[in-house]
Amino acid sequence: MGWKGILGFEYGIVQGPLGPDISGPELVAAVANAGGLGLLRAPDWESPDYLRELIRKTRALTDKPFGVGVVLEFPHEENIKAILKEKVAVLQISWGECSKELVHDAHSAGVKVVPQVGSFEEARKTIEAGVDAIIVQGREAGGHVLGQDGIISLLPRVFDLVGDRDIPVIAAGGIADARGYVAALALGAQGVCLGTRFVASLESYAHPTYKRKLVELNETEYTDVFGRARWPAPERVLQTPFFNKLGTIPANENELNQPVIGHSTIHGTEKEVRRLAGTVPNASTTGDIESMAMYAGEGTGLIKEIVPAGEIIKRLAEGAQLLIQKQFN
Ligand SMILES: Cc1cc2nc3c(=O)[nH]c(=O)nc-3n(C[C@H](O)[C@H](O)[C@H](O)COP(=O)(O)O)c2cc1C
Repeated sequence: MGWKGILGFEYGIVQGPLGPDISGPELVAAVANAGGLGLLRAPDWESPDYLRELIRKTRALTDKPFGVGVVLEFPHEENIKAILKEKVAVLQISWGECSKELVHDAHSAGVKVVPQVGSFEEARKTIEAGVDAIIVQGREAGGHVLGQDGIISLLPRVFDLVGDRDIPVIAAGGIADARGYVAALALGAQGVCLGTRFVASLESYAHPTYKRKLVELNETEYTDVFGRARWPAPERVLQTPFFNKLGTIPANENELNQPVIGHSTIHGTEKEVRRLAGTVPNASTTGDIESMAMYAGEGTGLIKEIVPAGEIIKRLAEGAQLLIQKQFN
């Protein structure tokens, strides 16, 4: 099986960018220091100076390489220019077209491009754009879900499509421990991208209640009830008591006609949080936290404790090696 690091990183372990600001400098630096690829998350609005600050704060915490994730659905051109100027190791993109021009600009700046895709067709287009690796997201994933296919069938198809090109395929969705890592390797992946597991880490910027719920609760749901006005895309969320009581929400209901239930400072900007808003609670959030969206992948039921991000990486890497030796040699 393809046990090796990817893109110059020691391990094929990627911490997915966690919007809107859950993967901040502390988490990304902790992942980088442990030999993984940590990804900051750029703001959903143009804020190149702020983003430069975020990158510099991370560099103050680690001398290892790391990357930044950008959601192309939102304004991003100035942010991407700042990322390329700062020459971080990796630009991760999702929810938009990965153009040849973007890949060219990034490569000219010495930055690798790693899109996250949710379908075979999207994978085909990104391969043609000349990317450095692809994250293939299955429907099991937490957060906004790009496609409909499960990882067990989608990933091998993308692996076959890549063929002998030097483009590592990285599996995302429902992976929370070494067993998931080894399963992904068996499907043809060279790496894994975990989101939910890293939300429930010591260094993530998630609100303590959100982290605790990830440990306490086990079930998730694919839905579209949160954030319909700002970002109408399906998402996988934790089945919290609040979510389970919601029932069906009529199509014309969205966060804009709902009451304000709290406040958050997101990337330095104060925001009201309305009921049914799509932003998860971060460490600054006040108000009715339990009634806010909590994104989570199907692997949530495997998360039993909040641990440092470095420990997550250590357990994944050592556990996977042990499992391969014991079961497959
Ligand atoms: C709280 C949260 C926020 C996320 N934000 C983003 C994002 O901004 N951009 C992105 O490409 N993926 C985002 N994702 C998805 C991850 O990149 C990844 O596909 C997913 O977390 C993998 O599934 P898992 O959560 O089961 O590990 C997010 C996931 C979570 C849980």
